[in-house]
Amino acid sequence: MQPSFKLRDYPIFLGPIRENFPAWIRQQAYSNVFVITDENVAGMTPGFPKETGVRVPAGEIHKTLASCEHIWSAMFAASLDRKALVVNLGGGVVGDMGGFCAATFKRGVDFVQIPTTLLSMTDAAIGGKLAIDFQGIKNSVGVFKNPVAVFADPVFLHTLPERELRSGFAEVIKHARIGDPFLWDTIRAQSGLPGFNWADILRLSIAVKVRIVEEDPLEQGLRTLLNFGHTIGHALESYFLETDSPLTHGEAIAIGMICEALPSAGQAVPNDLIDVIGRFFPHRAVPESAFPELWRLMQQDKKNASGAVRMAVPDAYPYSMKVLELTPEDMARRLLFYNQLL
Ligand SMILES: NC(=O)c1ccc[n+]([C@@H]2O[C@H](COP(=O)([O-])OP(=O)(O)OC[C@H]3O[C@@H](n4cnc5c(N)ncnc54)[C@H](O)[C@@H]3O)[C@@H](O)[C@H]2O)c1
Ligand SMILES: [Zn+2]
Repeated sequence: MQPSFKLRDYPIFLGPIRENFPAWIRQQAYSNVFVITDENVAGMTPGFPKETGVRVPAGEIHKTLASCEHIWSAMFAASLDRKALVVNLGGGVVGDMGGFCAATFKRGVDFVQIPTTLLSMTDAAIGGKLAIDFQGIKNSVGVFKNPVAVFADPVFLHTLPERELRSGFAEVIKHARIGDPFLWDTIRAQSGLPGFNWADILRLSIAVKVRIVEEDPLEQGLRTLLNFGHTIGHALESYFLETDSPLTHGEAIAIGMICEALPSAGQAVPNDLIDVIGRFFPHRAVPESAFPELWRLMQQDKKNASGAVRMAVPDAYPYSMKVLELTPEDMARRLLFYNQLL
């Protein structure tokens, strides 16, 4: 069984989990296998061994220290020793939080990521960032630690609600835009999500994330480019969270990418990006009354040093970037441009 990707620290297997996981675990010598999953995923994965493990309630609001205590308690109740393996079976919430619990339990036990959403297959499960939300601030407590293996199987996407699929697709668009013109052309050739061969899309999209995290594991340079769309997008996500109709992460990032890719006045607008995002994501006008709050949220972004708001955007070539400093006026120009696209 050959991995699809061999990173410095761990392999990524893309393909049937029912074959790949048992074949891999047979070659290991773990004392115990402990599965962390959420309530939705537990119901979606009949037959997957979960007898030793724990379920957490589903959703970002449960990516908390309280859930970690629940997980650690279950790990102690199962008498896990340091030779145990933790399996994180779920979306990015389970992957980030289960990984964090594994990385800290008895100073760290091995874990594998079995991502079950498009977002976690192509993004969250790869690269070793683990965190929980603390005092309402997303991913504010965590560590870097790599899994011992990742198993991505598109079979899980069959049960994923369409809106979640679309949310993850924003990260695929991001990967295409920052690193892979062929993936970009593949996306441009399709009119809707049902037309995609997910195994092919995942292979190409994961390759971009892998190349970047291998080159810059601790986000001291190129990895910042993975935040394309996220400076403005995160602020939009937080802002709309407080309204009657929140945006998914991907919906917010899609708007963020259009805004961040907009060049200075007088230069050509990226019509192909606008076209692709318009095809897959609904338009959502951003009220001008929200602009001051959005600016405040961007200034709080943990990536920003000394109050300046910086964003990394793709440059002319794959895997190249430029860092722009944003002002409130420029942020408003970008959002107003997006608003008039309707
Ligand atoms: N570590 C990283 O580098 C990184 C990168 C990007 C995002 N993230 C994190 O990932 C999280 C978002 O991940 P997500 O979008 O996967 O969210 P999620 O884990 O909340 O999953 C979304 C929803 O889909 C359900 N679900 C999962 N798999 C399913 C399946 N196969 N069928 C049906 N339902 C299923 C879940 O129960 C949940 O309700 C955020 O917390 C974000 O901070 C981390
Ligand atoms: Zn993202």
